[in-house]
Amino acid sequence: MDIKKVVVIGSGTMGSGIAAHLCNANIPVTLLDLTTDISEKARERIQKSRPPLLIDKTKINNINVGNINDDFNFVKEADWVVEAVVERIDIKHNIYEKIFKNRKTGAIVSSNTSSIPIKILSEKLSQEEKKDFCITHFFNPVRYMGLLEIVKNENNDLEKINSLKKFCEKELGKGAIVCNDTPGFLGNRIGVYAMQVAMTEAFKMKLSIEEADAVFGRPMGIPKTGVFGLYDLIGIDLMADVLKSFIKELSKEDEFQIVAKDIPLITKLIEKGYTGRKGKGGFYRINKDNNQKILEAINLETEQYSPSKKIDLGIDTVNLKNLINRDDKYGKYAWSVISKIIKYASSLVPGITDKFNDIDEAMRLGFNWAMGPFEMLRSIGVNEFFNRIDSFEGNKFLENLSKNKDENFYGERQIYTDIQTLAKVRPTALKLDKNNSAEIHRFKDFNIVEFTTKACALDYDSMDALKNATDKPLIVINESMQFSAGVNLSYTMNFAEKNDFKSIEKFIKYFQDTCKTLKYSKYPVVSAPSGLTLGGGFEVLVQSNFVASHTNIVIGLVETIVGLVPAGGGCKEMLWRWMQTEEAKKDPDYAPLKVFDIIGYAKTATSPVEAKPLKYLNENDKTIMNRNSLFSVSKNILDNNKDFRPPEECSFSLSGKPLKEKMIKVLEKLYNEKVILDHGMEVGKELANVLSGGDTTIDKKLTENDLYKLELDSFMRLIENIKTQERIRHTLKTGKPLVN
Ligand code: NAI
Repeated sequence: MDIKKVVVIGSGTMGSGIAAHLCNANIPVTLLDLTTDISEKARERIQKSRPPLLIDKTKINNINVGNINDDFNFVKEADWVVEAVVERIDIKHNIYEKIFKNRKTGAIVSSNTSSIPIKILSEKLSQEEKKDFCITHFFNPVRYMGLLEIVKNENNDLEKINSLKKFCEKELGKGAIVCNDTPGFLGNRIGVYAMQVAMTEAFKMKLSIEEADAVFGRPMGIPKTGVFGLYDLIGIDLMADVLKSFIKELSKEDEFQIVAKDIPLITKLIEKGYTGRKGKGGFYRINKDNNQKILEAINLETEQYSPSKKIDLGIDTVNLKNLINRDDKYGKYAWSVISKIIKYASSLVPGITDKFNDIDEAMRLGFNWAMGPFEMLRSIGVNEFFNRIDSFEGNKFLENLSKNKDENFYGERQIYTDIQTLAKVRPTALKLDKNNSAEIHRFKDFNIVEFTTKACALDYDSMDALKNATDKPLIVINESMQFSAGVNLSYTMNFAEKNDFKSIEKFIKYFQDTCKTLKYSKYPVVSAPSGLTLGGGFEVLVQSNFVASHTNIVIGLVETIVGLVPAGGGCKEMLWRWMQTEEAKKDPDYAPLKVFDIIGYAKTATSPVEAKPLKYLNENDKTIMNRNSLFSVSKNILDNNKDFRPPEECSFSLSGKPLKEKMIKVLEKLYNEKVILDHGMEVGKELANVLSGGDTTIDKKLTENDLYKLELDSFMRLIENIKTQERIRHTLKTGKPLVN
């Protein structure tokens, strides 16, 4: 089955996201709604979306728009028709009647429904039509969420389902998991149950919402929005509708029913318009009294708001065993929630899927959990789990496991895909080393470095791992959300607070030294980024010999925002890249001025398509839609470069003083227009000093070491400056930039 043209019907949140993503995959797509005006507006929304739904915004017009009355002829040519209209069965049935009257013989028709079973959706279709009808459940935002559930039932042509899965995996880059026609499929069934358990247990155990979110969040490998924060994000009213649908669809005996019962506080919140972030607020709200924005949290007992309290459990890494064994209310809450999730998820096998592994992967891809319920069980330990659990009667999975108590019950990860992924390879690789910030594995004849800190922030240990791993060809890759958000600012500030600038200097020198080792090691180094690739993270990438990048990256040098300049070779490498252009050959100041603009404004790109014109990525760097393929593509690069030779050292001819003056003129203009303030001027001058080559003239040749030295000196002057420290402190505290 070849999918060459697609029609999406319904241009709301999901339809427009699906159409945008098809456009990302260069598949011709037509988006239809009740009127062309509505689908035209959807196209405008796609263009303005943040984070952007399109990888390449210039392709917006590749999404054809129309309406279901005049433009249904597009359906006649489509190989796949996706229905994403409102969640109403009468409307969906009418649409199907029309689609099946017009579709090309054999074309696939699917619904994006989140809750209506195929059985009901397809009840009016002929047996022949049912063969080609399934559910393709995408998650919002479609470009960024990895999960696609393909739901089938006994009427489907399985070969067709399989080729649709292959298409979605290869062309759309999705983690496509085929599952049975049961309410909420895999992700929402477990995900919403987990939220309800986390919420009802918090009520029962009298935890505040901040406390519950502090446990049911990072310490459990769950996004930091927790449960109450996530409720606010999704919409408290929408969650109420979702629960109603589960109550209706699930059997009376299903454990879900117990946690899906109405909660009086929720009814009151919805009545008062507290529907979450889109409304006046929800469990949390921003109080704008006295011109100050204060985050407030609701008290579950008194139902009054008061300033939200930060809860620090003192946990840096996910360790479920430690968490559930804490001798405090947080430990008890964690055990209660985790054990219920494990019990519920395991009770659904084989009903919702015969592969428990698919449930875990659905939770990773659809809810951004670091591990699913069965991985949680493995991580707690099978014996420990059974020592603590009360009853599990009728739960076939747990009954079987309790007999053999096999700690190795889990088997391979990601069995839903044939791709050789990092997660599949990791357990078979040799663990060479592990420190607080990274792990080194040896697989076949090459090494793999994975950063393991929060947002993969870099410190001395991360550099140590990279350096030690260059004794073989190397792939720098990880499975967590970000490649690296840059140098760990808290780590740097800890030294600054103690006036220990010597240690900062030592670290930066080691950073530079490591990057140089990466670049000139006799074996090739491949960086395989996804997510944030900023600052120091970019500097690791730019000094790797090859790059295999996921299409969902946010890449750039953003140091100036916190009052610093890139000092791990970022300025140097960007200069070098821009010096290779035709323009730079004619004008020696062209490259430095370009780089001054890019780094000065801390420009970032949100896809490889945006990154290449800025030269954050090279034209020949590989870009990949499916994150699962990053590892195998990187491995191929190594396989194809057995006769690799390290690059020649670069040298730089820079104009020095006159160039610096040109840059300062630019800064003065910005200062006069109040775009930058006093410290912005200082930072800009330091950047100008590095990029103009410092005390040099155009006839001198500067080496890479000279550039590293300029970067280091500017960095040190800035980090010692109180105003840079103020910027860093502010950013660490608020996550926002300080303009000073
Ligand atoms: P929405 O309300 O944003 O958009 C629905 C669109 O359907 C509107 O543009 C509306 O004008 C159009 N429409 C209504 N009747 C139509 C008809 N007869 N012909 C053509 N267009 C028609 O809804 P949303 O959120 O995009 O949901 C669409 C589907 O996706 C629903 O089945 C929903 O359950 C499901 N879903 C929603 C998710 C979400 O996060 N919003 C996630 C996953 C699935």
